[in-house]
Parts: sequence; structure tokens; C-alpha cells
Amino acid sequence: MEKIVIEGKTKLKGEVTIGGAKNAAIAILPATILINGICTIDNIPEISDIKICCDILEKIGVKINRISKHTLQIDSRNITSVEAPLDLTSKFRASYYLTGALLGRCKHATVGMPGGCKLGARPMDQHIKAFEALGGEVEIEQGRIEVKAKKLQGNAIYLDVVSVGATINAMLTAVLADGVTTIENAAKEPHIVDLANFLNKMGANIIGAGTDRIKIQGVKELKKEGTYSVVPDQIEAGTFMLAAVATKGDITIRNCITKHLESVTAKIIEMGAEVEDFGDAIRVNCTKRPNKVNIKTLPYPGFPTDLQPQMGVAMAIANGTSIISESIWDSRFQYVEELNRMGAKITAQGKVAFFQGVDKLIGAPVYATDLRAGAALVIAGIAAEGTTQVYNIEYIDRGYEDIEGKFAKLGAKIQRVNE
Ligand code: UD1
Repeated sequence: MEKIVIEGKTKLKGEVTIGGAKNAAIAILPATILINGICTIDNIPEISDIKICCDILEKIGVKINRISKHTLQIDSRNITSVEAPLDLTSKFRASYYLTGALLGRCKHATVGMPGGCKLGARPMDQHIKAFEALGGEVEIEQGRIEVKAKKLQGNAIYLDVVSVGATINAMLTAVLADGVTTIENAAKEPHIVDLANFLNKMGANIIGAGTDRIKIQGVKELKKEGTYSVVPDQIEAGTFMLAAVATKGDITIRNCITKHLESVTAKIIEMGAEVEDFGDAIRVNCTKRPNKVNIKTLPYPGFPTDLQPQMGVAMAIANGTSIISESIWDSRFQYVEELNRMGAKITAQGKVAFFQGVDKLIGAPVYATDLRAGAALVIAGIAAEGTTQVYNIEYIDRGYEDIEGKFAKLGAKIQRVNE
């Protein structure tokens, strides 16, 4: 069993370079199923969710050639199966994109229900609504979702809730459908725009991605070859920005799109840190104990739920009592108990948590409860006095490439240990 061991207390200083976005790559890879050809995708992060996604793609006939650490050549000319097995799909959340992509290409998909972080109820009703609106017949049994369509026909889809996954699945299903599809109340996250950019580069006709109305004119087929580079990871960048605040450090984060980070930047400034925005890089310098602040998580461009636990660490040591209202997931405060073991004073009641700032955190053995909670505990360990051991780090490996290497370069005394 691996764990991350950290000797605090360190003020992080230096530069870090952000990799490709997990949530974009994890949609773009299944989207290659729609291409009856070969494409090369660059800036793919080396994380376990990507590895599992590639394993599934290979099982259904896609040939993947690793050209370099972050570049894959993907040959989807020969799809040999429309079935993605439950033992693999249950290992990560975004496996549900295989359904939209296989349905779009083959008019048939049988995909094991998705797994992923346990953040509370993760329904798929809006995905199903989209499949059905476009002509799919959906059956769920034995832990699998099967969708068949005689023909895919563009349609108007109104999403009852703003859902990243349902927006992407609707796009994947509609790209090769006949006629026009409109997705109203669509999610606007940067990874939705990135997927649309990729598909458009490959010959799709998608407009409006990044707004709440996406219009897709179905095309007969996509191009037989192309290249694409995945957008930088907004959440990885935000994680390092908040690490600078929590450790009273000075970090320059390179290769990020600072426009994607506006909600985080605004809160960090409110907390009293200095922020310098260079457009494709951002410097966060925090020279004093952060001020208290309140946040509510919201769909993009609001404060991302995926940065909520990392923000929680900064609040745990802030001056005064801060409040987080979580509006996306029911169980996103599982990390609170772990931070309290380190001396934090946090009370969570349902989807609201109160962070009574303490002078310092003290190292302890703690358990990652999900991906972002894991990143938060690593930051807490760097900020805390003494030794912290973070367990369950397989969660962290799902979405952060070489987290210990990147923090070590910023001065953290951190290592991965195999027990
Ligand atoms: C994606 C991200 C995840 C992030 C989340 C919100 C990926 C792989 N994962 O997850 O990291 O935390 O967006 O930014 O990109 N909902 C329904 N019915 C549905 C679908 C969703 O009610 O059919 C609800 C969910 O319960 C949740 C909200 O909509 O309350 C948002 O979920 P959604 O945006 O779909 O999250 P994911 O795509 O699973």
C-alpha cells in the first residue's frame, strides 16, 4: 500500500507547470470513437483515470499508440464491440461518455454503470433524457445501461439541472445524428468548450459551447485524421493557487488559462493574498494569515466544487470563521473529519460547513475520501507542523499527475512511500 508522507511546515515557493485537464481528456478520448480514422492527442495527463479509459477503448477495438508520455495516437477505424465491461467502467466516473460515443458511432452501446468518487447521489436521468430525445431506447439492468437507436435524429433537449456529464453525452450522441440538436441549460465548463473544439477540429459542427445553449448540426462523418492538444487543467491550477494561500507561500503557476480561474482568484484576493495575472500564468503570493471568506460552489463560471476541499484547508487556518455552501454534491465534506484530526475546527451540517480558523494545523495520519479531498489533505500536511501521512492515495492518482514531485519542486518535504 502506498501513502504520501509529508514533513511540515513549509511555505511553498517557486514555479509549477500545469498539465492537460483530466476532465477534458476523459471526454476527448471516448469522443475519438466517433472518428473512423486516426488522430493524435497531446497534453494528456498521466493519471489512472486515463489509463483505465484507454484500457476500455482497447477492449472495444481502438488501437492506442503511446507516442510520448503525454501524446497518444488513437486509431478508431475498427470498433469491434459496443460493450464496455462493468469491472472497468465502475473504476471511474467518466466511463459514462462511452455510452454517448458508442451510441453516436454504432447506434448501440452497452456500458457498465460508472464508478468514481463517492460524492453522494450521482443520478443519470439527464443523460438518459438526452439519449431518448435523440432516438435512443434505454434499458438499465444488471448494473449496465444499454441504449439502442434505429436512427439518431437531432432534437431540442432542455436539461433540468446543469450537468457536465449530460451536456457532454448529449454532444457525443448528436454529432453524427441527422439534423439539428440544441442543448438548453447546458453546462459551460472549460472542458465542454475543449471537447467542442476537438470535435469541430475533426469536422463536427458545434456552436455555442461555453454558453448555456449549444447547437449541433449533425454531420455525416468526421475527418479521418487530425491532431489536438488538451486544454490546461483549471482544477490542478486552482489547487496550487490555494496551496500558496494555505502555506503562506509564493507560487507562479505556468501553463494555465487564468480566465478559467476568475472565481478562485476573486476569493484569494478577498483572503488577502496578492495575485498577478499574466494570462497564461498566475502568481499567488500570500504573506500573512488569510482573511476569512465565504463561498458557495456553483456550476462554471461559479466557484468550482472540485476546488472546495482545497479552499477548505485555507479557511481552516484563516483569521475568523468562514462558511462554505456546497450546492453540487451531497457528500463533499467527508474531508472535514480528517482536517479536524489535524487540529482544524470545522463543523459540517448537511451541505454547509463552518470553518473556525485555527492558528496552526498539526500533522496526523489522514485518509483521502475522494480525489479532491486527497489533494486538500496533501496541502494541509505541507501547511501543518510535524508529520502527516496521507492514505488512500489511489484517489489522488486518479486526477493529479506526480503530485508529490510537483509539490517537492516547490519546497515541500514530501514523498511517496510503499508500506
Ligand atoms: C463533473 C466532473 C466532476 C465535477 C462535476 C461538477 C467530470 C468527469 N467530472 O461530474 O469532477 O465535480 O462535474 O462540476 O467531468 N445530476 C442530475 N442528473 C443527471 C446528472 C447530474 O441530477 O443526470 C446532478 C448531480 O447529482 C449533481 C449536478 O447535477 O448534483 C452536477 O452533476 P454533473 O455536472 O453531471 O457532474 P459530473 O458530470 O458527474
